[in-house]
Amino acid sequence: MSQALEASAAKDWALSDPSLLKTQAYINGEWVGADDGATFKVYNPANHEVLAEVADVGASETRRAIEAAEVAQKEWAAKSAVERSTILRRWNDLMLENTEDLAIIMTLEQGKIVAESRGEIVYAASFIEWFAEEGKRVYGDVLPLAQTDRRGIVIKQPVGVCAAITPWNFPSAMLARKAAPALAVGCSMVAKPPHETPLSMLAMAGLAERAGLPAGLLNILPTSKASTVGNEMCENPVVRKLTFTGSTAVGKLLTKQCSDTLKRLSMELGGNAPVIVFDDADLEQAVQGAAAAKYRNSGQTCICANRIIVQDTIYDAFVEELKKVVGTYKVGDGMDETVTHGPLITRRALEDIKELVDDAVANGATVAAGGEFGEGNSHFVEPTILCNVDDGMRIFKEEIFGPIAPIFKFSTEEEAIAMANDTEFGLAAYLYTNDQGRCWRVAEAIEYGMVGVNETAISSQLIPFGGVKESGQGREGSRYGIDEYVETKYICLGNLGT
Ligand code: SIN
Repeated sequence: MSQALEASAAKDWALSDPSLLKTQAYINGEWVGADDGATFKVYNPANHEVLAEVADVGASETRRAIEAAEVAQKEWAAKSAVERSTILRRWNDLMLENTEDLAIIMTLEQGKIVAESRGEIVYAASFIEWFAEEGKRVYGDVLPLAQTDRRGIVIKQPVGVCAAITPWNFPSAMLARKAAPALAVGCSMVAKPPHETPLSMLAMAGLAERAGLPAGLLNILPTSKASTVGNEMCENPVVRKLTFTGSTAVGKLLTKQCSDTLKRLSMELGGNAPVIVFDDADLEQAVQGAAAAKYRNSGQTCICANRIIVQDTIYDAFVEELKKVVGTYKVGDGMDETVTHGPLITRRALEDIKELVDDAVANGATVAAGGEFGEGNSHFVEPTILCNVDDGMRIFKEEIFGPIAPIFKFSTEEEAIAMANDTEFGLAAYLYTNDQGRCWRVAEAIEYGMVGVNETAISSQLIPFGGVKESGQGREGSRYGIDEYVETKYICLGNLGT
């Protein structure tokens, strides 16, 4: 095993504001331990050191949080959007002022390089700032009716108490993308962070408290018992909406569990993103874009390139250029500023990815770069390129969630479209071409919620993020993101005497 893939000694770090490192649950404006005093450990994936022991809450704490959220929501909804916005904007400011500490906490528990963590804090704050403004623009309608003495009015009202279950790959941004629109329109939220990365969400809640967010509006329930807390969120009738980001398998399970109480749902689930590279593309741009989309967060992103599909006439040239980019990468502890790619979140994740690579190699794939996996308890994987892959391999069908780039070949546009659509997923897709007609044809023909044309850095607070098919339902961010947290009410004003 190469030295770089071994667990490294812990790097020195210190927070300017140590009070941001919170280990208790946040319920009804109080920082509390679990009722039974239980805790669970949070580890640094780079070196396996225990970072913190965090309150391990269960069903009773979740019920109390939901009750508190119900009471708080009514008062919050009665405030004006401008008042709510003022508090959200303070939260955004505090996030930005504390970027460095929040980034350190994120890298320590999640493993992503600290530069990416800083980027995620700014990204998370951008949702808070956006929805603080957008909450002021929740408009209704006056409808022309058939009767002249009547008016139809449409108003938008908050959904009520919302529950959020978020993933470990974006510990802060995924809470912000859900909590900010919810709070902006007058909802309250109970949120469960993943047990691998609860500290980022708890730190954010600490800043929301400092910003003056009233008690009960944002409740954070750290737990190692995901199904206990999840069941209460799904089955409690007070919760009117569940928003989830995570795997398609868990999303389906939660959808079933929410069916008895017919909750509103937003599901941002798995992906199998193709990057289609045509031979009329700018090769340099395509290689850079594909590499960024593939290896970001060590490949642990729902919209990461999963299948790079390259036209046969430029296949070899593309692989050679991608090898040069991968050759500049350095794997290691994300706290080391010279490192470009951190560890995977768990050993289990590494083993799942290794199985996919082993399956591909056993069926004829060749390793063009990388290919080494850390041994023992290491979470490190070398950024890898696989050639000679085909659509019969598991790596074509399954979400990789790691830094492995399989490069597939196609010859015609029709074939590329068919390959891109040959999946149950439909989150993000990318294509590179300099042919304007092809940009439109292919972007419209592929079945995805988001398409990047000559661009893979497509995420921001300004766009509707979400998928089709088994990648989920609902949109997050942009003006569309607010619709997920409001109900539409029709009021008929009759007998107006006109
Ligand atoms: C995700 O992986 O779910 C989020 C990625 C992003 O917001 O860019």
